[in-house]
Amino acid sequence: MKFIITKDYEEMSRKAANIFAAQIIAKPDSVLGLATGSTPIGTYDRLADLCAQGDIDFSKISSFNLDEYCGLSPEHDQSYRYFMNQHLFSRVNIRMEETHVPNGLADDMEKEGLAYDAMIREYGGIDLQILGIGNTGHIGFNEPDDAFPTSTHKVELAQKTIEANSRFFNSIDEVPKYAITMGMLSIMNAKKIILVANGKGKADILYESCFGPVTPKVPASILQLHPDVTIVADKDAASVMLEKVPELL
Ligand code: PGA
Repeated sequence: MKFIITKDYEEMSRKAANIFAAQIIAKPDSVLGLATGSTPIGTYDRLADLCAQGDIDFSKISSFNLDEYCGLSPEHDQSYRYFMNQHLFSRVNIRMEETHVPNGLADDMEKEGLAYDAMIREYGGIDLQILGIGNTGHIGFNEPDDAFPTSTHKVELAQKTIEANSRFFNSIDEVPKYAITMGMLSIMNAKKIILVANGKGKADILYESCFGPVTPKVPASILQLHPDVTIVADKDAASVMLEKVPELL
């Protein structure tokens, strides 16, 4: 794992966006793996700026998102399709038909999951995947479990995740209980991964994920086994790592 530790959220977002920009410039038809949540919003803002300035071009890019809530339509303002349209897709020159988000309204989630993974394979796999990390250690919506889930699949959200995400809804009862998420195979098959994290609330789980045992109880710990992962964390999210592994600085 490589570590980029930044002074604040703004610098974290800029550094993460620079990694994306380098990828897009080096391979204009890259397949990007994208994430939702509050952490990557600044990264997407910066990418939109770079695109507006003419520094990067999304016209040949395709993308696959990690996850979607079950039961929310693409028009629902808390759906992840809506989030992506708002924060990135409508602001860059990506072809909408080349943007993919799992279908949270599919009748048969197993079939939807297998089709999603097959499509990622047809595109040649993901070149660069961005991940956030949940308080539970989830990546995508892969919550702590007895085994690492492999394919894209339906998942019951952890209570901690429902509580964390309730800030975006009118009440906790409105937060969907289930989601469809990419599993570890498509994530771990990505050629390059960056994980972004900010704030003290992520400090313990980030340390555990990067330096604790590799275990499905801490889903992000699987990233220790990937050959090209860069953690881009602000100094608050990195604070426990820096305390326990001062050599990182
Ligand atoms: P956050 O979510 O960026 O809103 O903290 C991260 C995640 O749940 O993956």
